[in-house]
Amino acid sequence: MKTVIFNGSPRPSGDTAALIRALSAALPTEPKVIDAYRADIHPCVDCRRCWDQVGCVIRDDMESIYRDVIDADCIIIASPVYFSTLTGPLLSLMSRLQMFYTAGRMQGVRLIQKEKVGGVLLCGGGNGSPACAEEVARGLLRAMHASCIGTVCTHRTDTLPAAEDADILAQARDLGLALVRQYEEKAGF
Ligand SMILES: Cc1cc2nc3c(=O)[nH]c(=O)nc-3n(C[C@H](O)[C@H](O)[C@H](O)COP(=O)(O)O)c2cc1C
Repeated sequence: MKTVIFNGSPRPSGDTAALIRALSAALPTEPKVIDAYRADIHPCVDCRRCWDQVGCVIRDDMESIYRDVIDADCIIIASPVYFSTLTGPLLSLMSRLQMFYTAGRMQGVRLIQKEKVGGVLLCGGGNGSPACAEEVARGLLRAMHASCIGTVCTHRTDTLPAAEDADILAQARDLGLALVRQYEEKAGF
């Protein structure tokens, strides 16, 4: 079971990291965590070269991430809520997914063959609503052919850090277990 987790938090020991740890502990294999704040990935600049040829012309860490996405069985988007959406570096990295869309739309090439199971982990201090962040995350999962089976969202980290929030940690673990169940069903185990 190949799992890719996109981590949109800048804080290695923060709230999102706590949820990622809880979910990962429920998986049978080590997930690959892609750290948006530390990856060397340029944003999509809408050069439109992918309109005429399959693939992105930018040469950076995204090349291996494209392969990880294509091969993945499960994909998780994990992020703090910043101004009611996902963090800037995560959205910047995700802008490079546009290549998958244009390959299909402009060239009729479906680069992602394997349908995936998806999930969302969100952390907010408690300001505004996380609804927009969740909608954006689910849209990004769809762009990677991952059907979202659940969102775990804490919206009170200002007063209760995720690492001390037993309920939210249990929800993250349960989402991990649900991913495994869905994967096994799909794989026919
Ligand atoms: C620039 C910035 C914007 C934020 N915007 C929101 C927001 O719109 N809503 C909210 O509930 N929390 C907001 N927060 C709080 C973070 O989402 C919250 O502290 C989160 O738990 C941090 O997660 P992390 O420790 O994984 O990085 C914001 C924090 C920062 C630094």
